[in-house]
Amino acid sequence: MSKILIKNIKGLVQVGEELPMVRKGKEMRELPILENAFLALEDGEVVGYGPMNEWEGISDWRDLEIVDADGCFVLPAFCDSHTHAVFAKTREEEFVDRIHGLTYEEIALKGGGILNSARKLTEMSEDDLFEQAQKRIEKMIACGTGAIEIKSGYGLSVDAELKMLRVIKRLKEKNKIVIKATFLGAHAFPVEYKQNHKGYIDLIINEMLPQIKNEGLADYIDVFCERNYFSVQEMEQILIAGKNHGLIPKVHVNQFSTMGGVSKAIELGALSVDHLEELADEDIEALQNSSCMPVFLPGCSHFIGIPFGDARRLIDSGLPVALASDYNPGSTPNYNLFAVWSLACIKMKMTPEEALNALTINAAYAIGLSETHGTICLGSKSPIILTKEIPSLAYLPYSFGEDNVQRVFL
Ligand code: NIG
Ligand code: FE
Repeated sequence: MSKILIKNIKGLVQVGEELPMVRKGKEMRELPILENAFLALEDGEVVGYGPMNEWEGISDWRDLEIVDADGCFVLPAFCDSHTHAVFAKTREEEFVDRIHGLTYEEIALKGGGILNSARKLTEMSEDDLFEQAQKRIEKMIACGTGAIEIKSGYGLSVDAELKMLRVIKRLKEKNKIVIKATFLGAHAFPVEYKQNHKGYIDLIINEMLPQIKNEGLADYIDVFCERNYFSVQEMEQILIAGKNHGLIPKVHVNQFSTMGGVSKAIELGALSVDHLEELADEDIEALQNSSCMPVFLPGCSHFIGIPFGDARRLIDSGLPVALASDYNPGSTPNYNLFAVWSLACIKMKMTPEEALNALTINAAYAIGLSETHGTICLGSKSPIILTKEIPSLAYLPYSFGEDNVQRVFL
């Protein structure tokens, strides 16, 4: 058995029993922190915590690793509820095209973007895809990510979508952290179906979904609901079929335009609506009457130069907000959630506490892991981050670009 005692912790963050499953509105400013604390872990499970003067006798000394966290903070690892971490190749050429003035949407319309990634993925073997993605997962964990959702969506054919999902299944089996799989066959229309949307949607519904169900390859279903991609009505058709195959909706919506996708996704029981760089009044109303988590992806806004989502407006309307990386080779080649934390504070005017709630408790909700992740409580098996010596918790988003992680306990 592995036993670890972390002592002299300057601040043990997001700690306590019976913490809420979601923090919304003004509650997002709340963040329980125990100062001068200890934390006891056995085989990765929290078995005790408290103020330093109460730690004696919490665990016997045999085989006990003692970690002195003097000057350091301990926090639950982040949950990344939205990534595209399985992909074949990076896309620096599009990055340079944008520097020369093209927009993300213009690059996609001339055959770049998602279709560019799909061409590259078709050529790569399942083993190579797996090896590359595994390296990415290890880097994500090293910077404090303790649970990850990964989407398909760079296959866009029956074989290639199944190949991606099988890679995600292997990643689930290989890694100690929890990984959730999302089927995103409806990420873009393949060139050969540009004029035949019905043909591709039939392929998704009649060929892909039954096989995905048979092999148990996905937890969630996603659709990119956007102009030039999938209409609200097309999204509805695909989400209903996904639900019939046991998958819960979680969608890309409102990245460039508002089309009514938010309320439709909520009506269909979406666990989260992600992107939301554009927001209409009716979207906020729909969210207010739901248990759906709005997820913002500031790394994407930053990288492709589109507006940052108006998290302030949602929080000030009493709503919860979650944050995720959107890690992918086109719109967001960043997986570091400390960077997302900084962007949320600097560009979206979220306080450090609000943004940390958005990356832990609310993010765990958006990935279906409220029971086990996002907080430090007795019995919790969530990975845990030990920071380097830092002056305060706000230093973490403040010192943007600095690596403040000392160790991640799995
Ligand atoms: O969430 N917007 C849709 N999908 C991804 C980007 C995909 C890509 O450019 O490869 C996103 O930003
Ligand atoms: Fe995405």
